[in-house]
Amino acid sequence: MRTDVAQPIRLADYRPPDYLIDRVDLDIRLDRQATRVIARLKLRPNPQGKTGADLVLDGDGLRLKRLLLDGAPLDIHANFVTPDRLTIASPPHEPFSLEIETELNPAANTQLMGLYRSGSAYCTQCEAEGFRRITYFLDRPDVLSVYSVRLEAEQTDAPILLSNGNRTATAAIEGTSRHFAVWHDPFPKPCYLFALVGGDLGAIHDTFTTASGREVQLGIYVEHGKEPSAAYAMDALKRAMRWDEEVFGREYDLDVFNIVAVSDFNMGAMENKGLNVFNDKYILASPETATDTDYAQIEAVIAHEYFHNWTGNRITCRDWFQLCLKEGLTVFRDHEFSADMRSRAVRRIADVRTLRAQQFPEDAGPLAHNVRPDSYYEINNFYTATVYEKGAELIRMLKVLIGAKAFRAGMDLYFARYDGTAATVEQFIACFAEVSGRDLTQFSRWYSQSGTPLVEVEAHYDAAAQALTLDFRQSCKKTPGQDEKLPFVIPIELGLLSHDGKIFDLVTGPQDGASAHELATGVIELTEPRRRLTFHALPERPVVSLLRGFSAPISLCYAASEDDLIAQTAHDSDSFNRWQASQTYATRLLLRSVERIRAGGAAESDPRFIDALRHVLKASPADPAFAAQVLALPGEADIAREIGANVDPDAIFAARKALREAIGSGLADELRALYASLAEDGAYSPDAAAAGRRALRNAALDLYTAANPDGRTLAEAQFTHAPFMTDKIAGLGILALHAGAERERAFEAYYEFYKNEPLAIDKWFALQAAIPEAGALERIRALMTHPAFSLSNPNRARALIGAFAAGNQTQFNAPDGSGYDFVAAIVLQLDEKNPQVAARLLGAFKSWRALEPHRRGLAEAALRRVIAQNRLSPDVKDIVERSLN
Ligand code: ARG
Ligand code: ZN
Repeated sequence: MRTDVAQPIRLADYRPPDYLIDRVDLDIRLDRQATRVIARLKLRPNPQGKTGADLVLDGDGLRLKRLLLDGAPLDIHANFVTPDRLTIASPPHEPFSLEIETELNPAANTQLMGLYRSGSAYCTQCEAEGFRRITYFLDRPDVLSVYSVRLEAEQTDAPILLSNGNRTATAAIEGTSRHFAVWHDPFPKPCYLFALVGGDLGAIHDTFTTASGREVQLGIYVEHGKEPSAAYAMDALKRAMRWDEEVFGREYDLDVFNIVAVSDFNMGAMENKGLNVFNDKYILASPETATDTDYAQIEAVIAHEYFHNWTGNRITCRDWFQLCLKEGLTVFRDHEFSADMRSRAVRRIADVRTLRAQQFPEDAGPLAHNVRPDSYYEINNFYTATVYEKGAELIRMLKVLIGAKAFRAGMDLYFARYDGTAATVEQFIACFAEVSGRDLTQFSRWYSQSGTPLVEVEAHYDAAAQALTLDFRQSCKKTPGQDEKLPFVIPIELGLLSHDGKIFDLVTGPQDGASAHELATGVIELTEPRRRLTFHALPERPVVSLLRGFSAPISLCYAASEDDLIAQTAHDSDSFNRWQASQTYATRLLLRSVERIRAGGAAESDPRFIDALRHVLKASPADPAFAAQVLALPGEADIAREIGANVDPDAIFAARKALREAIGSGLADELRALYASLAEDGAYSPDAAAAGRRALRNAALDLYTAANPDGRTLAEAQFTHAPFMTDKIAGLGILALHAGAERERAFEAYYEFYKNEPLAIDKWFALQAAIPEAGALERIRALMTHPAFSLSNPNRARALIGAFAAGNQTQFNAPDGSGYDFVAAIVLQLDEKNPQVAARLLGAFKSWRALEPHRRGLAEAALRRVIAQNRLSPDVKDIVERSLN
């Protein structure tokens, strides 16, 4: 654990490295407690750096055994060596070599950064700064080197030895029980993309022939016995490889592409060159153990990591401030892939739901930061929804602004110009400015100003003139360190329709401001704080469909009438806005109910909304997945975000519960009939259409059961008899909302059935952690003593503690403060072992300032207890300090 007084790293202080490392030869002898690493580095002074500077290599908790410069031993004590740094004063002015021997203890590595053990395997995680836990190095993404790696191990301990690139040799070491493998990666890469895996693993193999006819060997390595569960991931990989050729013109470049699934992993997955390492949650799937959502996520994460090969690996980041350059862009690419593989409309709704649930609260709270941050204390805390999800929205918005053709041309230029380099956001944006002939200076503000812009729109219809005037006003609240914001460029995709769904042409006069380009594309650009537009030739007051497809990551405020919203829900030709209209309607209703409940009254009932949903159900056979999205209703956190301040989670829960009950009783017959009509028989297929039917069927049962006790019988029967996980877990999830014997029976039966399937047991913990009842915390405390629980497995910790903190709004925010105290205590406990996971858990407090005063006080007190600890990791310290700022 680093203890030096932290100084922020600033983008403005970027300097090129003083030395470059052209070649890295690693010789690694794997051993559980004493792995020996010999790193032979070829260095030279960087012409762009300072001449004659000391060579300062990064380390993190290293044990140096030996050090040679150009073959001559260096006195370890005469040079400045600490576990965290190796300084060589005035090294040669011409190319030189260093040989560094370190010794590691992978079994003792609980941070899961650098070289560690997961199950029976050795594996690595180097992004962002894990390589310095393996050897002393210039651990920064703008130092690109060609790697050769020799791995040696006991044959029985690690019969499989993998690293980046292509394998050039492998053999038993004669006269011993050991063997070795040599891997060579011809593509220069930053050290965060280094990886090795050693272990006794099973595998499935396949091949892929690239567009230019090269054959690539594909392998997915998993725990023995799990091989069949990797088949879907392999299928997704091949589809992703083809798609990147067809849509972005990107071919794979090595002869081998390997993926390894491990069970102990801090994040989702990692794009190491030619050797992706995955959390097994994003590889393993069988119909019996994985839900439809799991399948969709596997497809997306497989694609994401594969797409990094070009956006991240061939072109990497100059420094960690540019993280969105690879992450935002790669998330955009995986969103597009999923949209092409599934329903584009439904994917868009799901992606925006995620953005609003994860990123909007971040942007509205104390942890708000730019998509490209200006400074950081701990880079691991910037793998955020802002960098990833909002970063992806910025790319999408760029495409909306310049058009699909120019977007593709810009991407091509970017690949051609920066291949093999470590690039910046400016260089990326400049490619699109160049091909489109557009000045993107104002667009770049999206990268340097945090906060979610608010766009307020007012409409005035003049019947005599048959004209509609729209007044747009943009603003953005202040965020930490940013009191004043400059206006953003905001593309608003717009449509005008009649109440029975006819589409009006967009017609403006010469003085009304919309350009021919805007009229043709239907995309209005806001660049100033205000803009007024008038549309003509409108014989009736039109329904205004604003921000179609969610064309910009903003929050929109427009007082559409209820009639308009009902008409849009029925007819909008933009399916995103058809969904959005239903959500807006529900949100308004829920907000009114919250008010009434807090004033001591009852929730509002609204037969019109129930009626609108009846129509959605009637039309649902055409698009079940879409109907399921409408039925999902805004979540508790969505409602809290809309309320924004003085939030009372209990009132929100009560309002939402009342609405669900009203729907369940108002539409009991329809829901029951729909449930029956969508009954499945036959084999499981993870495709989007089948998943959509299951989603609708389960949404129907969920709402039905909210008001009808016999729903529980249906849910229990479904839980018991469903052959596949999606329906099984849906049944259990419904039962979990209703205290009683059925629920306890079901949880017990589930555990018995799945006790040897860790990913299924994660779901078991998570569902119980989310039970929205007093007593949830007692259940969680008891579950922590369950033999299957372990705080040191990140998936398990997230399943129980994370699901509680992020998903159980009423109990995490229990008015006695017990939820806050519990999570704060766990964070402190976990921080000693795995700071990254601990810091992420603490992120659950990100909206604490928006709570009503009593809870706010309790949340603050819990955060103050965390900050008062004097042995905090930099990770947790950074989050707690910013949270309290
Ligand atoms: N680059 C990986 C991905 O997006 C995430 C790695 C994050 N690692 C970390 N230590 N924060 O797929
Ligand atoms: Zn990524």
